[in-house]
Amino acid sequence: MIVSALDTVAARTAGLVKIYGFGDTEVRALDDVSVEFMTGEFTAIMGPSGSGKSTLMHCLSGLDTATSGAVCIGETDLTTLSDKQMTMLRRDRIGFVFQAFNLVPTLTALENITLPLDLAGREPDQEWLSTILKRLGLNERLAHRPGELSGGQQQRVACARALAGRPDIIFGDEPTGNLDSGSSGEVLSILRAAVDQFGQTVVIVTHDPRAASYADRVVFLADGRIVDELRSPTADSVLDMMKSLETR
Ligand SMILES: Nc1ncnc2c1ncn2[C@@H]1O[C@H](COP(=O)(O)OP(=O)(O)OP(=O)(O)O)[C@@H](O)[C@H]1O
Ligand SMILES: [Mg+2]
Repeated sequence: MIVSALDTVAARTAGLVKIYGFGDTEVRALDDVSVEFMTGEFTAIMGPSGSGKSTLMHCLSGLDTATSGAVCIGETDLTTLSDKQMTMLRRDRIGFVFQAFNLVPTLTALENITLPLDLAGREPDQEWLSTILKRLGLNERLAHRPGELSGGQQQRVACARALAGRPDIIFGDEPTGNLDSGSSGEVLSILRAAVDQFGQTVVIVTHDPRAASYADRVVFLADGRIVDELRSPTADSVLDMMKSLETR
């Protein structure tokens, strides 16, 4: 099944500013960021440490609030939502794979993976679930609790959890940061499959040009601003862009 809806916006920001602290300690983490993520597109966000990548992901996914400007998921302006509405939007429409995995320590790997679905009272699509578990190499670890898993295994559980409910949009903050190249390739190709087979939208942060080459588009941040972007990236074109940005 190919779902094509490239003409609708899955998420966007307009004039997004995020300031942490105030006075002498003020940090302008995002400085007038306007960006759109189209439905059915895979975007990688890159940029130096401290350039605002995580802040952008947190604002887009409703985990942090904007100082000014707009953030929308689909047609929904996040600033208009109550806490309860925000929780429901996150639960029903967004999947997350963040550096701190946020797995529930008392639940098994499988229980963690199906938790968002259980909370929403939805049944998992068993075929998709077993594809995810197999591709991420988790079948032998389903009964283990997070504390009994390696860092890479925990990250793959977090990926499986984000993918299981087929949310409209998946945000990943360095989702392959702790993985060896084999597991990293599996995670990226399953994110690619979520886009190509189910028309989901994926936005990840990465420092790795090879990971970025799985995306349709790479957006480059520096000092809280979008400074450039690449379409149909290859690892080489991403690397060239990174070098040219360093010397600008
Ligand atoms: N909670 C916070 N309080 C104060 N400053 C913060 C906070 N979170 C982030 N910052 C600052 O905002 C800026 C952007 O941080 P952010 O975490 O978005 O960077 P990043 O691009 O994700 O970096 P990295 O590649 O190291 O993960 C940095 O200067 C950081 O120190
Ligand atoms: Mg970060």
